[in-house]
Amino acid sequence: MEAMLYRVVILGSGTGSNARAIMESEAAGSLGQAQVVGVLSDVDGAKILDHAREFGKPAVYLSAAPYRTKLDDEAELAYIEQVENWAPDLVVLAGFMRVIKRRFLEAFTGKIINLHPSLLPKYPGLHAIQKAFEAGESITGCTVHWVTADVDAGEIIGQAEVQIAADDDLDIVETKVHAAEHELLPRVIRELSQEGSF
Ligand code: GRF
Repeated sequence: MEAMLYRVVILGSGTGSNARAIMESEAAGSLGQAQVVGVLSDVDGAKILDHAREFGKPAVYLSAAPYRTKLDDEAELAYIEQVENWAPDLVVLAGFMRVIKRRFLEAFTGKIINLHPSLLPKYPGLHAIQKAFEAGESITGCTVHWVTADVDAGEIIGQAEVQIAADDDLDIVETKVHAAEHELLPRVIRELSQEGSF
């Protein structure tokens, strides 16, 4: 019997290094039953879309004007429609810089995960790596969690720790956290795809 496919859609606004890590993992056969079926961005020309095309994945830009940190009602509907077209089992927010509102959440209940660059519940919100660094933490890391209406507060699925050495500067800590993210996120997606609960 053919293994069931676990359909993954990725949303992101920026460099897409995590989306790339997911697609590299899939290409290497390490993503379990998961397969990326679409990548969507609110930023025209974002690198995440280039990565998607490189891996032969559908890559779509959808305008989210006029707001900077959320989707207006019209854009939200367009986003829901596009993501529904890909019939995802999982929606991955990988550097998607807009707050997800109720209608989108309800369209994909229990299917949306987010990657955050701190050990939540510590340092939710923007500039999390910098906040941990400036607070003098000796350990920080990254978190994958289920998305709910409360920002960065849904149930935690997985975390990875990163040590901050006394002589690390912020750049070094950022590099370490991103490296940890590139391991954690594909691992969580693989594990979710193997839970057989979809
Ligand atoms: C990551 O640090 C993620 O934790 C945060 O946004 C960043 C996205 O980076 N939410 P990239 O676009 O995947 O390179």
